[in-house]
This record gives sequence, structure tokens and C-alpha cells, in this order.
Amino acid sequence: MSEALDVLREEHRRILEVLDHFDRLCRAPEMPAGYIDEFLAFVEIFIDANHHGKEERALFGTTDEHPWLSGFALLLSEQHTEGRLLVRAVRCARGRGESGLPELKAFVAFLRDHIARENDAIFVTIEQALEEECNRALVERFAEIESEVIARWKLAEPGEERRSICDLRRWNALLARA
Ligand SMILES: [Fe+2]
Ligand SMILES: [Fe+2]
Repeated sequence: MSEALDVLREEHRRILEVLDHFDRLCRAPEMPAGYIDEFLAFVEIFIDANHHGKEERALFGTTDEHPWLSGFALLLSEQHTEGRLLVRAVRCARGRGESGLPELKAFVAFLRDHIARENDAIFVTIEQALEEECNRALVERFAEIESEVIARWKLAEPGEERRSICDLRRWNALLARA
């Protein structure tokens, strides 16, 4: 197991926790007011800027010297783009005065599939090819990207300066919605 890939696996756990909570809320008679906007903020900040940022701006670059791995990285990158189009469809629906819920469910199902593909297959293969030196450099680069995202959206509350992005109270508030 590599420390760098473990950072991403931990984020997958956090994302799946939020998606499971979303699915539970979908079974309730009605979504809590304001929930979808909060969920979309999690998608924009935690998933896209932070998590996909680490994958696209750091991890995928490590596969350049391994042609069979760079094919996987390209596939995952294309899936990120597809996911962004699905999120755009949610925003467009909301712009038309609709809830955007059917579009959001489509995105959530798509993301679950993407994460499973990374966890079960592609990360394992990348991990086997990663040199230790490269692993350390990745951990540092991930930390830089994470700090950038935390600062840009002012995510850390007082006393949380040393916490990882997964452990910030901001996401607990999202999970507490019922
Ligand atoms: Fe990904
Ligand atoms: Fe991922």
C-alpha cells in the first residue's frame, strides 16, 4: 500500500459517506431545504477541486512513463469530464426552476461507478508501479493542492488548521442534514 494512494482512498471513503447519506435523503418524502446547494458545494470543492485536482494535477502525471497506465489515467480523466457535464446538467435544471434531483441521482450513480473502478482496479495497478521516491513526492504535492483548496474556500474553522480536508467540520454539517 502506498501512502499517496491511501490519501485518495480515504477521500473516497468520505465521498461515499456523503453519497450514502444523499441516497438515504432521497428515500425521505422531501429533501431538506437548501440541501442540494450544500451537496453541490461539496461536489465543487471537495470532489472536483480537491480530490479530482489531486488525481489530475499529480497522480495521473506519474503514469507518463508507463504506457499501459497512462491509458488508464486518460480514461479516468475523461470520466471526470463526463462527471462535470452531469453536474452542469444539475445546475441547468435548477436554473430552469426544477429540483435537479433526477440529474443529481445520475451523477451520484456515475461517481459510485468511477470510484469503484479506481479502488478495485486502477489504483492497485498504479500502486504497484509507483517508486518510493515518487510516492513521497506525490504525498507532498497532494498536501499543497489540499492547502490551496482549504485556503481558497476558507474551509478551516478556528482550531482546524492542522486537520486534513476529510476531517473538517464543514462536511459534518452536510451529513447532519435530515
Ligand atoms: Fe477519479
Ligand atoms: Fe478518485
